[in-house]
Amino acid sequence: MSSGQLYDTIGATYTVTRRTEPRIAARVWAALGDARTVLNVGAGTGSYEPPDRDVTAVEPSAVMRAQRPAGAAPCVAATAESLPFEDQSFDAAMAFATIHHWQDPIAGLREMRRVARRVVVFTHDTTDAGWRCRFWLTRDYLPEIADFLVGRPSLTGLARAIGARTEPVLIPWDCADGFLEAYWRRPEAYLDEHVRRGVSGWARVGPDAEQRAVRSLRDDLASGRWAERNRDLLDLEAAELGLRLLIG
Ligand SMILES: C[S@@+](CC[C@H](N)C(=O)[O-])C[C@H]1O[C@@H](n2cnc3c(N)ncnc32)[C@H](O)[C@@H]1O
Repeated sequence: MSSGQLYDTIGATYTVTRRTEPRIAARVWAALGDARTVLNVGAGTGSYEPPDRDVTAVEPSAVMRAQRPAGAAPCVAATAESLPFEDQSFDAAMAFATIHHWQDPIAGLREMRRVARRVVVFTHDTTDAGWRCRFWLTRDYLPEIADFLVGRPSLTGLARAIGARTEPVLIPWDCADGFLEAYWRRPEAYLDEHVRRGVSGWARVGPDAEQRAVRSLRDDLASGRWAERNRDLLDLEAAELGLRLLIG
């Protein structure tokens, strides 16, 4: 499936659960520094576009482009791996929750580096040996998600491609943007089909794994097993689940 095709298939209800999480947006916008012109790559519906700068968006999926709100930044149909801009066209380039979808993330990051002075990327540290076990959803219910990491570049490799430093991003317990890990302290949310439809991982594992995971989680919530296994999470305000900002 080429870039954009996945979201042309699954993206129609994206905005039901996916929106700006203000505390994470503030981190991204601070990392953009004094950039006046910003390229947002894999922009989707534009959730993390800073309102006070001159933004240009790049998004390959027509279904996602069509959901950008009226007045959103202009959006170009293109992919990260081949950005249709001159060298150093922007003060900064950003990419939020998208590089795991790129066919060649290193090539895409190098393109961002080519067209912008500063690069800011929000992604996962999936190579950490503990990643698979860190989040109860993937550890206990949906281990198939880890299959999608095979052959993908490490966080270190991604950072090296743009000469970036990495900063951890903790996920608030009431995270407003419904990405995969957002409901780590609200497990019932994953029983809601709308929540699952907003996250590509659920579609990618296929209906059998999805239904098995949902059944098993529902049973564990009813029996108290989930609460017993995850009682250490219940008092946390924010969790470290491997999300990272790369800033280069
Ligand atoms: C999870 S969505 C994130 C959208 C947006 N950044 C946000 O935070 O809401 C991932 C987006 O990456 C886009 N995408 C997939 N492959 C891409 C590529 N090769 N280059 C740029 N964007 C891509 C998808 O079409 C989709 O809109």
